Amino acid sequence: LHQMATNIVWHKSSVGKLHRQELLQQKGCVIWFTGLSGSGKSTLAYALCQALYSRGKLTYVLDGDNVRHGLNRDLAFKVEDRAENIRRIGEVAKLFADAGIICIASVISPYRKDRDACCALFPEGDFIKVFMDVPLQICEARDPKGLYNFARAGKIKGFTGVDDPYEPSLNFEIVLPEKGNNITSPYEMAETVISYLEEKGYLR
Ligand code: PPS
Repeated sequence: LHQMATNIVWHKSSVGKLHRQELLQQKGCVIWFTGLSGSGKSTLAYALCQALYSRGKLTYVLDGDNVRHGLNRDLAFKVEDRAENIRRIGEVAKLFADAGIICIASVISPYRKDRDACCALFPEGDFIKVFMDVPLQICEARDPKGLYNFARAGKIKGFTGVDDPYEPSLNFEIVLPEKGNNITSPYEMAETVISYLEEKGYLR
C-alpha cells in the first residue's frame, strides 16, 4: 500500500480527556450498534442521540451509510473493505471518545474479528457493543431501501444476511429488543441504553 511515516512523535497536551470530561459532565465512550441491514441500528442511534441531547449530553453519530459518502467513499463491501471501513470508524470513534463525546456508531460490522479489533482500541468498558437482534426474515420484510429485494434478484452480490455472513458475538453488552420484554419502540430501547450508561457512570 503506502509507505509508513517515520520520525513522528506523540505530542502531549496540558488539556486532557479528564479536563474535557469535566467540562462536559460526561464520560467519552462508544456505543456500537451492530446488526443486519434493516434491523433498526440507525433509527435507534438517532433516537439515542435525541434522548441524550434532551439530557444535555453531547453525542455524535457515525452512521455507516453516511460515512461511506465521505471518509470511506473508496470502500465497497468485500471482506477487506468492510474491515477497513470498521477500522477507520473505530479510530474516528476513539478520537470522539477522547474528546469526551459519547460516540454512537451504527454499522453492520458483520465480522467479529473487526468489532473485537475496535474494542481493543479502548479502555475496558468504554466500547459498548449493542446487538440489534432482529431475525433476517423481519429485516427482509421491512426492506426499507429495497436492497434485500435487489440481493434476492442477484442485482447486489455479497449482501449481508443473503449471500454474505453476519457473525454474532457471545459478549454483547446489550442485546435489543430485550427478550421476554415487549419493549420494541426506538424510544424505549434508547432508554434501555441510557439506563446502562447511567449504571456504568458514563452520564454523571
Ligand atoms: S459494513 O458491513 O459494516 O461495512 O457496512 P456499513 O458500512 O454499515 O454499510 C451498510 C449499508 O450499506 C448498504 N449496502 C450493503 N449492506 C450490506 N451488504 C452489502 N453488500 C451492501 N451494499 C450496500 C446498506 O444500505 C447498508 O445500510 P443499513 O443502514 O445497514 O441498512
